[in-house]
Amino acid sequence: MTTTCLVTGASGFMGRHLLASLTAHDHTVLALLRSPDRLPALRAEVDALGGCGDRLHALAGDLASPGLGLNGADRRQAAQAAVAFHLGAQFAWRLPMSRARTVNVEGTRQVAELAAASGSRLLMVGGFMLCNPMHLRRLGIDLERPSRTDWPAVYRRSGGYEGSKLEAHFMVTRRMRELSGALTCIHPATLCGHSRTGHILPTQPLAGLIDNLARGRLRAIPGTPAHWLPLVCVDFLTELTRLAAFDPAMEGSELLVLDDATPSLAGLVRRLAQALALEPPHRHLPLGLLRALLRVPGTAQLLRTEPESLHFIQTHRFDTTATRAFAARHGVPWPDIGAALEATARFAGSAGR
Ligand SMILES: NC(=O)c1ccc[n+]([C@@H]2O[C@H](COP(=O)([O-])OP(=O)(O)OC[C@H]3O[C@@H](n4cnc5c(N)ncnc54)[C@H](OP(=O)(O)O)[C@@H]3O)[C@@H](O)[C@H]2O)c1
Repeated sequence: MTTTCLVTGASGFMGRHLLASLTAHDHTVLALLRSPDRLPALRAEVDALGGCGDRLHALAGDLASPGLGLNGADRRQAAQAAVAFHLGAQFAWRLPMSRARTVNVEGTRQVAELAAASGSRLLMVGGFMLCNPMHLRRLGIDLERPSRTDWPAVYRRSGGYEGSKLEAHFMVTRRMRELSGALTCIHPATLCGHSRTGHILPTQPLAGLIDNLARGRLRAIPGTPAHWLPLVCVDFLTELTRLAAFDPAMEGSELLVLDDATPSLAGLVRRLAQALALEPPHRHLPLGLLRALLRVPGTAQLLRTEPESLHFIQTHRFDTTATRAFAARHGVPWPDIGAALEATARFAGSAGR
C-alpha cells in the first residue's frame, strides 16, 4: 500500500536515508523544510541513495515557529499524511536550554498535535539513552511520574540537546495519550554510516570521531576496555523505522534500534584505524579524568571533544530481544557492523581529503 507521509528532519542524515527508503517503496513524502529551495538538491540526493526524488515534495516550515510556520494550504496537505515521521531536532553541543526546548520539545508537541488532529500515526524518533533507566535516574528523571521531573536540573546535568530529547519523549507520550493519538517510538543508537557504501555526513558524531582519529587528536581511548558506544547502521535503522510505522502491532510501542555486536570503543577505534591505515591509540583515559581535563578552558576545542558527548560512552548493555524479533518477523538481516565501520571510515576519510 502506498501512502502520503510527512517527514520532519528530512534534510538530515537519517532523514535523507528515510526519504530514500519511503520513496523506493512508492510512498509520497511531504518534507517539512526550513529551506524549501533545497528541494531539487534533496531530490538528487534521494535518487543517489536509491530512492525516487520525484515522489518528494516540500512544505515550508520551522519547528521553532508557531503553527510550525505552515501556511493554510500546506497544513491541509500535511493533515492528509497517514504517518508523520518526526526526526527533526536541533543537534548541537552546548545548546542553550531555551533554544533546545523551543525546537526539540515545543516543536515536537506541535508535530504531535498536528498528527493527532489529522488521525496520522506519529513515528517519533527519540534516542537509545531512553532505554537506559539507570542513566535516566542519575540525571534526575522521575520514571514513575515523569511530569514531576525538575527538567532545568536535568538539563544542567545532561546538556541542552540530550535534556530536550528526553523531555520531548516523556512530553509526547503523555500528550498523545491525552489526545488518543497513535504513537510509535524508535530509539536509535549513535548512527554508523550506510552498511555497504559507508555514506555519512560530516556533522554526525561518528564522523567527528573518525576525523579526530585521522588528524591524530585521539591519543587515548576514553573509558575502560569495557566501555562502548552503541551504534546502528543508518540503512538498517531507516528500514526498521519504515516498517514499524506501517506495522499495526507497533502502534503504542517503542523499539530500540541498536546493534549489540558493536565492538567495545577500543575495538571500534582499532577497526576505524585499520581502514584508514593508521596506528590506533592503545592507552585508556578514565572518563572522570577526561571530563576534568575538558573543564580546562580551551581543551574541549583543542581535542574537539565535548563533555556532553561522553554520556553516550558507557558500560551498560541493552536488551535487544524485541529488536531482533521485529527484524526477524520482517525478514530484515542485520548488517555486519565491523564491515560497516570500515566502509564508514573510508567514506569519511575520502570526504575529508
Ligand atoms: N545521529 C545520531 O547519532 C542519533 C542518535 C540517536 C538519535 N538521533 C535522533 O535522530 C533524529 C535524526 O538525527 P540526524 O542525526 O539525522 O539529525 P541531523 O542530521 O542533525 O538533522 C537534523 C534535522 O532536523 C532539522 N531541523 C533542525 N532544526 C529545525 C527547525 N527549527 N525546524 C525544522 N527542522 C529543523 C534539520 O533541518 P535543516 O537542514 O534545516 O538544518 C535537519 O533536517 C534526531 O531526532 C536525533 O535526535 C540521532
